[in-house]
Amino acid sequence: MSSREVLAEAELWVGEHRRLVIEGRRVLLLRTEAGVFAYEDRCPHLGLPLSKGTLEGQTLTCFAHHFQFDAETGAGINPRCLNLWAYPVECRAGMICVDLSRRIEAPAPQQLVSEVADEH
Ligand code: FES
Repeated sequence: MSSREVLAEAELWVGEHRRLVIEGRRVLLLRTEAGVFAYEDRCPHLGLPLSKGTLEGQTLTCFAHHFQFDAETGAGINPRCLNLWAYPVECRAGMICVDLSRRIEAPAPQQLVSEVADEH
């Protein structure tokens, strides 16, 4: 995996999400109880930034028309026919790393971070 460091783990708490621009791409980074996940920061409905939406538990809701997505898989919840595009994520030495070379159509097991803290 050719990933790059994008943010310190300590700067993204459970329940938080934020927008990053990495190599000119808009990326939505979020953390749930299950770990850290990265998606294209673009709602599949009309392309507006999902980073303006809300994250409650495992549910990501777009601010514009309230479409909902599973924050841990990228799968559409309502409606089910639209999914997110995910980027692989890993954590190394306290840094969240995202692989922008592989965009994965969700739902897919793109993963995770929490357990990597053991490396410290
Ligand atoms: S742009 Fe996100 S629900 Fe319409």
